[in-house]
Amino acid sequence: MAAALPREKQLPDNREIVILESVSRAPGRTAVQIDVLTLFPQMFEGPMGLSMMWKAQERGLLHLRLHDLRNWGEGRRRQVVDTPCGGGGGMILRADVLVRAIEEVRSDSTQPVILLTPQGRVFNQQVAGELAQEERLLLVCGHYEGVDERVRQLAISDEISIGDYVLTGGELAAMVVIDATVRQLPGVLGADDAAARDSHADGLLEGPHYTRPTDFRGLQVPELLLSGDHGRISTWRRRQSLLRTMQRRPDLFAAAHPGDEELDWLARHRADGQLPDT
Ligand code: ADE
Repeated sequence: MAAALPREKQLPDNREIVILESVSRAPGRTAVQIDVLTLFPQMFEGPMGLSMMWKAQERGLLHLRLHDLRNWGEGRRRQVVDTPCGGGGGMILRADVLVRAIEEVRSDSTQPVILLTPQGRVFNQQVAGELAQEERLLLVCGHYEGVDERVRQLAISDEISIGDYVLTGGELAAMVVIDATVRQLPGVLGADDAAARDSHADGLLEGPHYTRPTDFRGLQVPELLLSGDHGRISTWRRRQSLLRTMQRRPDLFAAAHPGDEELDWLARHRADGQLPDT
């Protein structure tokens, strides 16, 4: 796999490692520049060097710049952490190191600086949509016990959590945020409206999908999907999406505002436990 990845490029000031550099521009397309401050830039190579995230870079839609926080470390050993004031276990990322790094990496004061932390607002499709409107983002990956509170006060404009659990560091969270955000940019997925069909795009889960063979171990693809009747297929998909959301995510369903006719249909089919073919 390593051979398939692009070569590392070390910039002259020795501060910024652009591991993945876009190779072409896509005129007229919305592009995003995402700077990431991390102690582990190499963690990004696999997920960002393959599939859609890599294609987005090749098409010039994502300009991903990975910055090794160690380069702003203090002293001969480039220290980035220290023990917590007041005692207690673990290490804290230093304010002087982190704030300096953020100030040097940030293009200008309009670039949002987002700390990945379990204390942030919870990430979802809507937040990804908001971030996809930005031209530039700076993601700051926390590590160890956390960051000195003064970093928040001085240099962070937003905090994002990807869920109510604690990761070892913000890197995986940053990659989740990048992926979900970049796939919403026009031109990243094959068809321009592909992201609009995603689960959660309209607040609902997607219904079931099928491909060939039409009969697999006795389970059939619903006949309607083979009919070529796009109007009926579209109604079927919408209903399946509502049904699935109602069954699995009542919290989302409550905000979905289905029409009267849809509610009737759901009332008739909610107890089926199987997929109605209408
Ligand atoms: N860092 C550690 N846990 C995290 C989480 N759940 N979300 C974002 N960043 C984190």
